[in-house]
Amino acid sequence: MKLTIKTLYGFEGILAEEIKELGGEKIEKITRGIKCEGNPEFLYRANLALRTALKILVPIHSFKAKNEKELYEKMMEFDWSIFLDVDQTFAIDNVVFSELFKHSKFVALKAKDAIVDQYRNKYRRRPSINTDNPDVLFNLHCANDQFTISMDSSGAPLNQRGYREDGHRAPMNEVLAAGMIKLSNWDKGKPLVDPMCGSGTILIEAAMIAMNMAPNINRRDFGFRSWPEFSPVLWSRVKNEEQSKMRKPSMDLTGLDIDPNAVGMARKSLGKIGLRREVRIREMDFRDFKPLSEDGIIITNPPYGERIGEDDINAFYTSMGDAFKQNFAGYDAWVISSNKAAMKKIGLNYSDRHALFNGPLECDYCHYELYDGSR
Ligand SMILES: C[S@@+](CC[C@H](N)C(=O)[O-])C[C@H]1O[C@@H](n2cnc3c(N)ncnc32)[C@H](O)[C@@H]1O
Repeated sequence: MKLTIKTLYGFEGILAEEIKELGGEKIEKITRGIKCEGNPEFLYRANLALRTALKILVPIHSFKAKNEKELYEKMMEFDWSIFLDVDQTFAIDNVVFSELFKHSKFVALKAKDAIVDQYRNKYRRRPSINTDNPDVLFNLHCANDQFTISMDSSGAPLNQRGYREDGHRAPMNEVLAAGMIKLSNWDKGKPLVDPMCGSGTILIEAAMIAMNMAPNINRRDFGFRSWPEFSPVLWSRVKNEEQSKMRKPSMDLTGLDIDPNAVGMARKSLGKIGLRREVRIREMDFRDFKPLSEDGIIITNPPYGERIGEDDINAFYTSMGDAFKQNFAGYDAWVISSNKAAMKKIGLNYSDRHALFNGPLECDYCHYELYDGSR
């Protein structure tokens, strides 16, 4: 089976490695994704266990169309009843990059009309639309005149692991957090501190990595479970196998946040996923914190300064650099921020840098080696 596995910009390499480890074949990098091949067992396992995948798509129909009439005709030529029962609900996600088709919603509407009309003509009945929780989620990708329709085997995006507590102002995408940890090459035996942990996403993803816990092991819903060929026996075997890979090693994970609401949220999320004891969360200003260990890693996502003035955010980043130098000598620090001017005020030279996106914000993810005095 051919698959397209989507990720965030900058994570193509680490996703390719994850796929290789899980047994995917014919791996090919594309922008924000990987094309590969795998059997149904791989598909189930990949949905459970890939940390940097957002969606796993199975392409079913490709064609060229230059206008809406052609799009409708090409959609009508395909037999949709193989993939969608008339009694099931469906929705179409769309991604359109085209000079020929400027309105992505209209493209999705035309595609939907063609599917519905085919059922009306054949059966005098039609499947209903359900955009919130469809039985079958199709994905329409259009690049100029080239269309690919896929079955979305994941359904809701795979970053929705189910542990998130609502309410933090700037929660981080779970896939972004997992990818940042992977890019840092964190040695799982070493202490990890997120000094501005917010709702705790980086720490939760780190704990799951340390425990070899498949990130979606607690999630119930996946798109493929409503497919006609879904095998409950195979699914339960794959799930049991992933569960049996879990370990409880000793780990040293610390989160700090100055905001009591954030601290409460981080603790609740950890509790939801059964990791409350594995991660220490403290309510405090990180500038007053001194780690016990002389060696470890900081991975953090500080405020970017949307809510405070330029001088204040610059001063905050300067104090962050000072606190890192004074209190964390011997550590490696990885900081993500969209505020490139403020990043310069940290006052440290980075030894590695990755361009990433936090939602729509283009960010730098920088590695600083912290040491006493000067080298
Ligand atoms: C962008 S948010 C982090 C979001 C987090 N990565 C998540 O997934 O929810 C930045 C966090 O830094 C915290 N913060 C700001 N100043 C701080 C300080 N001096 N000490 C500790 N935490 C601080 C804020 O309360 C906020 O929760």
